[in-house]
Amino acid sequence: MSDTPSPSAEPQHALLDWDERGQPLSRLFGDVYFSQDNGLAETRQVFLANNDLPARFAALADGEQLVIGETGFGTGLNFLCAWQLFEQQAPVGARLHFVSVEKYPLSHADLQRALALWPELAPFAEALLAQYVALHPGFQRLLFGGGRIVLSLLIGDVLELLPQLDARIDAWFLDGFAPAKNPQMWTPELFAELARLSAPQASIGTFTSTGHVRRSLNQAGFQMQRVPGLGKKWEVLKGRFSGTPAAPGKPWFARPPVPAGARQALVIGAGLAGCATAASLAARGWQVSLLERHAGIAQEASGNPQGVLYLKLSAHGTALSRLIVSGFGYTRRLLEQLHKGRDWDNCGVLQLAFDAKEAQRQAQLAAAFPSDLLVNLDRASAEERAGIRLPAGGLFYPQAGWAHPPALCELLASQANIRLQLHQEALELRRDGKTWQAWHGEQLLASAPVVVLAAAAEIQRFPCSAELPLKRIRGQISRLPATAESRALTTVVCAEGYVAPPRLGEHTLGASFDFSSDDLTPSSADHAGNLELLQQISADLAERLHSAQLDPARLQGRAAFRCTSPDYLPIVGPLAERQAFTAAYAVLGKDARQVPDTPCPWLDGLYINSGHGSRGLITAPLAGELIAAWLNDEPLPVPRDVAEACHPNRFALRALIRGQ
Ligand SMILES: Cc1cc2nc3c(=O)[nH]c(=O)nc-3n(C[C@H](O)[C@H](O)[C@H](O)COP(=O)(O)OP(=O)(O)OC[C@H]3O[C@@H](n4cnc5c(N)ncnc54)[C@H](O)[C@@H]3O)c2cc1C
Ligand SMILES: C[S@@+](CC[C@H](N)C(=O)[O-])C[C@H]1O[C@@H](n2cnc3c(N)ncnc32)[C@H](O)[C@@H]1O
Repeated sequence: MSDTPSPSAEPQHALLDWDERGQPLSRLFGDVYFSQDNGLAETRQVFLANNDLPARFAALADGEQLVIGETGFGTGLNFLCAWQLFEQQAPVGARLHFVSVEKYPLSHADLQRALALWPELAPFAEALLAQYVALHPGFQRLLFGGGRIVLSLLIGDVLELLPQLDARIDAWFLDGFAPAKNPQMWTPELFAELARLSAPQASIGTFTSTGHVRRSLNQAGFQMQRVPGLGKKWEVLKGRFSGTPAAPGKPWFARPPVPAGARQALVIGAGLAGCATAASLAARGWQVSLLERHAGIAQEASGNPQGVLYLKLSAHGTALSRLIVSGFGYTRRLLEQLHKGRDWDNCGVLQLAFDAKEAQRQAQLAAAFPSDLLVNLDRASAEERAGIRLPAGGLFYPQAGWAHPPALCELLASQANIRLQLHQEALELRRDGKTWQAWHGEQLLASAPVVVLAAAAEIQRFPCSAELPLKRIRGQISRLPATAESRALTTVVCAEGYVAPPRLGEHTLGASFDFSSDDLTPSSADHAGNLELLQQISADLAERLHSAQLDPARLQGRAAFRCTSPDYLPIVGPLAERQAFTAAYAVLGKDARQVPDTPCPWLDGLYINSGHGSRGLITAPLAGELIAAWLNDEPLPVPRDVAEACHPNRFALRALIRGQ
């Protein structure tokens, strides 16, 4: 359990008024989003020019990036102007990473209306609007231009979210309404966070010239100066960070050195985790060899016809729950690129309150999360949503639905610099100087300075990752031919199992759990068990599907292994050499509070992306971004403590502390 504050069901969207010129004003703060005289010119002066961005973008080399941090995303005007300038100035191989915090995101309709004010930004605004979905509280990642532009939107209060950010910011856009209108934000805590996150010599620009802001920034380590503003604004502030860099954290969760030399990676396993890893690296200019033992991608756990975007949340803001909200948003935005109806559908997901305990848990969730993420429905409303009769009401996730995992894998693996190598089973990993080699007997399959193990539980076959505690859990789904009556089902419905509206004429019904079986031949016993799950979900739907007449021995389906870790969090990130780790941090066995300054004995260039359990559709794609962030020294796409909760070293650390 984390000690992070619970998620909050605070206002979801900004409340706006529009002036006679069609410009937005915040009703809550009583302030404008941008200069009413010339928003574009002011943004370009205060944030772009005063951070020296035209020259800094032009000076980037291929493979380099610049990271901008902003307080207050608002209408995204600053972001779009920075992006436009980046397109004009930066070399093709450079990347822009923009991190912005927003407590009251604009609704889609308001954002569209606000951005329509700037015709010259139209292509950028359109791309933003297309991705502006499922932006729920916490860390949300959006990719543009094939990943050349990364936007990390942190939805929530800047004072709550910046402390969770792991990033090195090169340039700050200190926005966020005038200090007099928003004194809660312009605090010493904010300035300390700006300093903690600043790269050496980070620049900063702000529209305010208030003395207390200037003095506070000076105190926090920025050397500020007043410079002329635009129009009615006489003066604004700009500065440079010259303070002391933040102290390093715990070495076992530190960032490993970014591998020098060619940006080439070897990814083993082409399910959701491997395809996502390959995609995130390829988007950053890496050459990726993606090795898969089967004749095609997505043949094992990621091969079901329909998987559910099932969010199992906690009202207590646990690491897993925050990962799920971030991962859901990321996957949901990726799915927008696929064919709706055939590859995915945002038909919503209904989780039935099948007993009193579940109903109580759901009531807590409904109080903790905003209603555009989930709503509590009574039985009548739930039945109306689902189009069938149900035993209970439940929690409805309007933006969720189902996806065809192989289509998502296909989308992710289809980038130009991913070389898919099928029928290639890596049986052994060898280290040759600074490269990792994958071997099958005496056949060298591929080699690269970086290897990412994304082979689900099969990663235990490699000695370096053999001790990671992964369990295989066999699961089987049943494919039920849709009937005229079953087509009334309009949303995914879940209880212990789940059933989805039909895809290509078939409903997917799942799924069994078997902790002991190793046999992947579909069994009629599991089909029979799935039909019982259907009966619990809805006797009405079971009847519509003529389930009483269905013979489990004749049903079609497929079985695969889920791969689960003991704490149900995925295992994502760099891995240390186990014995050297135990030796380096042995003192923790005596005193767990010690933080020795011994560097972590990393297995240089070796990374893990596995353990996605029953929710790989939600966690695996974002895990690809997390791997890429570790490997490219980028802002992490999830809060620091969530990344640590997913870190491969956590097991060795726990064993040490428990004296095992
Ligand atoms: C029955 C069932 C129902 C599920 N339902 C849902 C759901 O509704 N929603 C949801 O989000 N998740 C669901 N899941 C979970 C989800 O499918 C997984 O979390 C996800 O597919 C895991 O992806 P992966 O890439 O880690 O593993 P996999 O898809 O298993 O991929 C691993 C790949 O590595 C390859 N490989 C292994 N060893 C080697 C080697 N040595 N060399 C080369 N290649 C190798 C394998 O062939 C395989 O292709 C379900 C799982 C099952 C089994
Ligand atoms: C002036 S507007 C930002 C304009 C924006 N940069 C643009 O390009 O449109 C200020 C923004 O800061 C947000 N904000 C204010 N206080 C905040 C806080 N404490 N945490 C996060 N966001 C905050 C507001 O909701 C608002 O969207």
